[in-house]
Amino acid sequence: MANTLPDRIPALVQALLKAELHLHIEGTLEPELAFAMAKRNGVALRFDSVEALRAAYDFDDLQSFLDLYYEIASVLRTERDFHDLAAAYLERMAAENVRHVEIFFDPQTHTARGVAYEAVLDGLSAALAEAEAARGITGRLILSFLRDRSAEEAMATLEAALPRLDRIAAVGLDSAERGNPPAKFEAVFARARAEGLVAVAHAGEEGPPAYIREALDRLHVARIDHGVRCEEDPNLVARLRIEQVPLTVCPLSNVRLRVFDSLADHNLKRLLDAGLLVTINSDDPAYFGGYLSTNYVETQRALALEEADLVTLAKNGFTASLLPAEAKAVHLAAVDHAYEDFLVTQDPHRLP
Ligand code: HPA
Ligand code: ZN
Repeated sequence: MANTLPDRIPALVQALLKAELHLHIEGTLEPELAFAMAKRNGVALRFDSVEALRAAYDFDDLQSFLDLYYEIASVLRTERDFHDLAAAYLERMAAENVRHVEIFFDPQTHTARGVAYEAVLDGLSAALAEAEAARGITGRLILSFLRDRSAEEAMATLEAALPRLDRIAAVGLDSAERGNPPAKFEAVFARARAEGLVAVAHAGEEGPPAYIREALDRLHVARIDHGVRCEEDPNLVARLRIEQVPLTVCPLSNVRLRVFDSLADHNLKRLLDAGLLVTINSDDPAYFGGYLSTNYVETQRALALEEADLVTLAKNGFTASLLPAEAKAVHLAAVDHAYEDFLVTQDPHRLP
């Protein structure tokens, strides 16, 4: 695209209609809200202030992040808490022109503390229904298993969800990746798929490319969350391209958790240019320095993405979503229209 001026990128990113497919709702808990919930629930945090908590957001790797993330999630107790958490995220997303979100939640993080699964599910579901009615943003829930806990516990979590399975679109796999290969969860994923759920899994964030293959071959996932380490295995990259397996890439997360040294070192542009179905996502935006639009803007700057790349990435978000084909087609056409409208606002002499 000729003559791309860097300063119009934030306006373009805002104008593009977007989808977010890799977002942990617990990772949207901003320090201010965490303190408010701690107070109303009588939960003690070991931090004295919002500033002290934010200052702790300096991570060496995935595990050091997860330790803090699970600790702060302990303020979430009631259905109202889960509602308020999701409502705050959805309000932000609507303001960023995000039209569809697929949200991970980790029941085990909460049920292990005595919070009822129904409180989590009802709170999140209510916020999604309200956001769709008030703002037209659609959402799906992805029940994610903690891979550092046992397969038996994952199966029990799935069984507890069976009575309300209509509220869930997919199952996922997250938490500490190394040493917890996808195959550990083969039986629980088989059961989930037999119940009609789609499967997705984190793989190739800190774990090796072999975990990506295993997620595809043993868990039969429809997309790979992260997947950036696929590049170490050229045959795997070829397979991901041929099969158009979506990768839900999270650039700011990858830098904060030191998967890449800097955003300029990120492989997103190479993967995109190799023909992979790459999407941009925020992962845990309260912890990693930015929500969805910030991920687009900062990645564009660091990797010199073309405007056409940004349009492709926005469209890939809908293509890779769990929406039905007709809804995808409507969104994809709307992204093209949004870009055309943007070009007209930038150049009023341009013929629409
Ligand atoms: N990886 C694994 N587990 C997670 C992540 C992540 O990036 N965020 C929240 N849980
Ligand atoms: Zn994640």
